[in-house]
Amino acid sequence: MDRQISGGAEGFGSDPDPVAGAEAGGWVSEPAIRAIAELLGMPFIRVLEVATFYTMFQLEPVGRTALIQVCGTTPCMLRGANELMATCREKIGPKDHLSADGRFTWQEVECLGACANAPMAQINDYYFEDLTPEILAQIIDDFAAGKSPKAGSYVGRTSSEPEGGATTLTDPKLYDGSAARPIKKLPNSEPAKETA
Ligand code: FES
Repeated sequence: MDRQISGGAEGFGSDPDPVAGAEAGGWVSEPAIRAIAELLGMPFIRVLEVATFYTMFQLEPVGRTALIQVCGTTPCMLRGANELMATCREKIGPKDHLSADGRFTWQEVECLGACANAPMAQINDYYFEDLTPEILAQIIDDFAAGKSPKAGSYVGRTSSEPEGGATTLTDPKLYDGSAARPIKKLPNSEPAKETA
């Protein structure tokens, strides 16, 4: 693509340049999708399919302080996603709508690939994991107060390790090279035998 994709903070709906990215106010309008299709030489419907399928694309303005995407797929649902969504509803308002002050939007999305740390939500560009309704309420309050709440696990685990720390692959020899041995013969390194 040889053309800079840009736009104003108000989004495409009123931007004189009809081609813009999600950074332009966090959403992309239907005229922008048409312009992108034209720019890429693709059918409009194919660009529209991408924009409507992936939840990182927004088709209308979203909260300028925080876009909260709560995972509602089975592992998160079994671990309390419905309660997280109730917290969002209570503090922000209805799903998929801007809050009254225009600062927050919340959505339910499909699996975000952090199931081991369920329940979780993506807020703006970061994952917030191992959440409870109380913790999520505090995170929303912190965003509202202009703070930057910490991302990651809220039970203190590193990445997706079990709570309390790793239980496998804990031998330091695995990482310091002392367990390494020369490989005498690579598996499957012989030429294939000819069959009659
Ligand atoms: S089910 Fe929620 S991150 Fe996968």
